[in-house]
Amino acid sequence: MNLFHSRILGTGSYLPERRVSNADLAEQLARDGIETSDAWIQERTGIQARHFAAPGQKSSDLALPAAQAALEAAGLDAGQIDLIVVATTTPDLVFPSTACLLQAKLGVHGGAAFDVQAVCSGFLYALTVADAMIRAGSARHALVVGAEVFSSLLDFRDRGTCVLFGDGAGAVVLGPSEHPGILATALHADGRQAGVLCVPDKTVLMDGQAVFKLAVGALEKVALEVLAKAGREASSIDWLIPHQANLRIMRGTAKKLGLPDERMVITVHEHGNTSAASVPLALDIAVRDGRVHRGQTLLLEGVGGGFTWGAALIDY
Ligand code: ACO
Repeated sequence: MNLFHSRILGTGSYLPERRVSNADLAEQLARDGIETSDAWIQERTGIQARHFAAPGQKSSDLALPAAQAALEAAGLDAGQIDLIVVATTTPDLVFPSTACLLQAKLGVHGGAAFDVQAVCSGFLYALTVADAMIRAGSARHALVVGAEVFSSLLDFRDRGTCVLFGDGAGAVVLGPSEHPGILATALHADGRQAGVLCVPDKTVLMDGQAVFKLAVGALEKVALEVLAKAGREASSIDWLIPHQANLRIMRGTAKKLGLPDERMVITVHEHGNTSAASVPLALDIAVRDGRVHRGQTLLLEGVGGGFTWGAALIDY
């Protein structure tokens, strides 16, 4: 049997325990004389709450339970994984990679393990690399993770950014398949836009309106690109699972594709923007609550700092 494709065998996710509502965050910021409100945050972003990691809790700590849940869903042992790719903007350490730390926490060794850094597009980059390696025969079972302790990059005196982000992890297990699961992927970057969203020193700096415009345009184009590659129409998409940047960007993309809100997985209200973790987190939530099931077509897409963007069209 020739196995020229990869498909998703299982999904998992994990959110740190501490849930911080907009009201909680507003109260925290008020102590430093910074004004915000639940109404402002909800109206501009759709966010109602986010989860923050506990002090000392790192990306690999969030990645581990997400990975274990994905392995269990796939019916595989960690020992059967020969490739781990972790997308993260907030690695535990400069090195070794979070993927190596995760591998050790899973109690296995010997397979390939590395991180990719493409900020909020990171999971799409990681998925594309893992899919290509499986199709090329250089890996058989891949664990692809998005994990972020993005709160570690926030300046809580900058109300324009600190209200947007949260922490979490999501994971998928990919395996070889006779029939395509991952139908088409596309990745892009434009380094000329590095300055609109970056961490020049220790915390996030963002030109929100520039990001907004770039994001909606890039996401529409890349969605159409993967549909064209796969020879499919937007109407064939059962679920749009976008990077959960903010509800207005997400709705802008859905509208351009002619998809109603009911066909879009939305978790941003409860998770905030978890950067590289947001797409696999949203996917896992929708798989586990029964919205996403086998046989459906999914469009995953992400956009973020770099500027980077990407999409994957998937028969789940
Ligand atoms: N609470 C209350 N007021 C605020 C807050 C806040 N948290 N943040 C900013 N404001 C104020 C500003 O100070 C400003 O006040 P002023 O008019 O008195 O000067 C006013 O609100 C409007 O500020 P803008 O920055 O112009 O607000 P805008 O309507 O652009 O909304 C936002 C900001 C939500 C960031 C918007 O630009 C946006 O959605 N951008 C997309 C960026 C994004 O989603 N980034 C996520 C990360 S990137 C990614 O994942 C791709």
